[in-house]
Amino acid sequence: MATKKVTIATLAALRAREEKVVFVTAYDYPTAAYADRAGVDLILVGDSAAMTMLGLPNTLGIGMTEMLVFARAVSRAVTRALVIGDMPFRSYQPSDESAVRNAAAFIADAGCDAVKCEGGARVAPRVRAMVDAGIAVMGHLGLTPQNLTQLGGYRVQGKSLAAAERLVQDALALEEAGVFAILLEAVPAETAGYVRSRVSVPVYGIGAGPDVDGQLVISHDILGNFVGDIKPRFVKRYAEVGAAIEGALRQYAEDVRAGRFPGPEHCYPLDAEIEAEIREARRPLVGERA
Ligand code: KIV
Repeated sequence: MATKKVTIATLAALRAREEKVVFVTAYDYPTAAYADRAGVDLILVGDSAAMTMLGLPNTLGIGMTEMLVFARAVSRAVTRALVIGDMPFRSYQPSDESAVRNAAAFIADAGCDAVKCEGGARVAPRVRAMVDAGIAVMGHLGLTPQNLTQLGGYRVQGKSLAAAERLVQDALALEEAGVFAILLEAVPAETAGYVRSRVSVPVYGIGAGPDVDGQLVISHDILGNFVGDIKPRFVKRYAEVGAAIEGALRQYAEDVRAGRFPGPEHCYPLDAEIEAEIREARRPLVGERA
């Protein structure tokens, strides 16, 4: 793993060499700092923050105000990885002007390197407008949660040849519009490999099998830190952070209630003479309760 800042040129070179890219979401300073130290190549400040960080039922309720707070915290923590701001619902759908303005806010105000937006041929004009404004854009195809109702829920996409062909057409439209990479979410491995074989930009996957240029996971999922019941098939757990937090807080609560915390080692010391003076002053006055 090189220590140099990851750029779009790095990603193209990695695809050419068939070297896998490591991609995770992060929404806060500590997670981003640890991911960067661990050598993660790409960090997505995903609109999944709506669910992972804000407890919302889906990604539709988060807006630019919240996304920019998360994106600033992540950018501040990262020196090597390429940071991508995820354009939330309503930030690019209305017009080219809204797309360019909000994408520029991720770059200029929040310090991201690039943005991501969902959709294929129908968002290609928006992608073109952002690229023409000098902004690096990642496409996102397959299960696109901002169209959850149109897709009929969280369903695997690209399950027939016709559906796979449509994904290829969408990928080609995005490539033509100037994306530097495409993310495929929740598609069978064979379909993902087919899409990758038809475009020259890197193709990354989340729940899209191994035949792609890199893997994205939601950090809360692999760290066991998601509060809720959703556990997609493609998630492998590497830690139980949520259980560790709950366990530690239970112990803390027991210690406080039992008077075991704070102990002398957690208290600020005083010069013995001053301590004695204060102890004396603290004694209850006659008639006062201790
Ligand atoms: O918001 C996000 O984290 C995403 C991934 C689920 C692809 O868009």
